[in-house]
Amino acid sequence: MISFAVSIVAAFTGYLLQTNFDSQWIAFEAKDALNAVGIGAWFNVANLGQIFMWHIVLLPLAVGVIVALHVILIRAKGVVPPIDAAETDAQLVDSRGGSQ
Ligand code: HEM
Repeated sequence: MISFAVSIVAAFTGYLLQTNFDSQWIAFEAKDALNAVGIGAWFNVANLGQIFMWHIVLLPLAVGVIVALHVILIRAKGVVPPIDAAETDAQLVDSRGGSQ
């Protein structure tokens, strides 16, 4: 879910790279939105160079790191069991009279 959310932001920055009237419009709507939530000082969506680097380096890197972490966690901890599996498995183990 986090990777999905970050990739949505990456896609938004992609729309700013079209260098046409669409991207100008989106940039100035986004500028108002970011200023309204108080983080406008950190990102200048009207600055093509800045947004280009966010798009081709930082955000894809963030998506890559999240995916790598996800795969490592799955390999280390295994997949999540079905919701009622723990209880059923415990009963199975009890009925066999041992740990397996
Ligand atoms: C999480 C990964 C990425 C997502 C979700 C993503 C998404 C997008 C989207 C939605 C656009 C707008 C396309 C359009 O409407 O014209 C775009 C444009 C663009 N992206 Fe990406 N992108 C990603 C990674 C990258 C990377 C790694 C690069 C380059 C190394 C890149 C380079 C570009 C360029 C140059 C454009 C402008 C193309 C144009 O408008 O003609 N993107 N991207």
